[in-house]
Amino acid sequence: MIHGHGGNKQLLADRIGCAPEDIIDMSANLNPLGPPKRVHDFIRENIYVIHALPEPDAAGMSKGFADYQGIDPDCVIAGNGTTFFIYALPLALGAKKALILGPTYADYEDACAAHHVNIHHCLTVAENNFVPDLDQLSAKAEQADLVFICNPNNPTGTLIDKQDLETLIHRHPGTCFMVDESYLPFVPEAEEYSLVTQTHLPNLVVLSSMSKIFRIPGLRTGFLTGAKALIQKIMVHYQPWSVNALAQAVIKEIYNHPEDILPFYRQTRAFVAKERRNFVHALAGTQGIRIFDAPVFFVLAQLDRISAAQLCRRVGDDGFLIRDCSNFKGLSDQFVRFSLKTNDINQALAQSIKKALAWEQTKS
Ligand SMILES: Cc1ncc(COP(=O)(O)O)c(C=O)c1O
Repeated sequence: MIHGHGGNKQLLADRIGCAPEDIIDMSANLNPLGPPKRVHDFIRENIYVIHALPEPDAAGMSKGFADYQGIDPDCVIAGNGTTFFIYALPLALGAKKALILGPTYADYEDACAAHHVNIHHCLTVAENNFVPDLDQLSAKAEQADLVFICNPNNPTGTLIDKQDLETLIHRHPGTCFMVDESYLPFVPEAEEYSLVTQTHLPNLVVLSSMSKIFRIPGLRTGFLTGAKALIQKIMVHYQPWSVNALAQAVIKEIYNHPEDILPFYRQTRAFVAKERRNFVHALAGTQGIRIFDAPVFFVLAQLDRISAAQLCRRVGDDGFLIRDCSNFKGLSDQFVRFSLKTNDINQALAQSIKKALAWEQTKS
């Protein structure tokens, strides 16, 4: 397991001498609006579901997602978070050589390493705003049997057009593409970009995390969709009761009210777009920091006068936990990521960043 995931509040709390609850965690990418309203009430009233075993294959939960997406339930598997699939896929597909479009979420590499899969990278660069060179990606995909693409990408926020991805997938029928759409619901017009319904493509699987958009990472829920033949291969490695009873019940409840889902997405999208604009505005003209444009609520920034560790330490003194991105392959100790929250918190972080940069500059 990598030891660089976001969200380690305890470490910072110990350093500055406060309770972990007092830390403002802007290192983990979760919906700043919280879960849909009905989730807490539902859990309170239905806690008794943990007294019985859940469905071993979480079929009811998969059906809810499949119906919402308008696809065959046999093309969907529910998992204990999408992490479950990231680690199952290299083994289930018998992958020998994987290609990862990066810099990206480190667990793809970890999962391949765990199964002794040869790993190659196709890295985008800051000078090109992390926009991928699709010709280069295609040339490298030819050599791989499994390709990992995160869309939109964590941590750069880069979004690839659906058409471009479909062209790539068609061009390499012998290669399986895993497209991780965990952050897509945050993107305006996300439905125009999603490949979830493309289950006729025999060499595509799509991951959809419920953790991020519905802000329920502690429940551990996510889906994999793909062609039936691929689903069958993956099901060979499926452990019964992989998704716990409460998690299954909550997701079924969310999809039992499909009429509320798009309004919730739209409310989230409008909120994060506004907050992103406000945050970028608050830092406009600040020397020593460059913010990359992206249609998501997490913000990748490049520092040119102080290191990521120094900035993390300085804003940490003010109680903010942000993500040092130096352990992302293809990034360096110049990069940090902030996951936006509500306006007052975002503005306070912007002030803390300005103070840290000004302090470090007066020192040098
Ligand atoms: C891009 C991406 N995919 C997948 C995951 C795993 O999420 P989960 O297992 O909660 O669905 C994360 C978690 O941070 C992520 O950033």
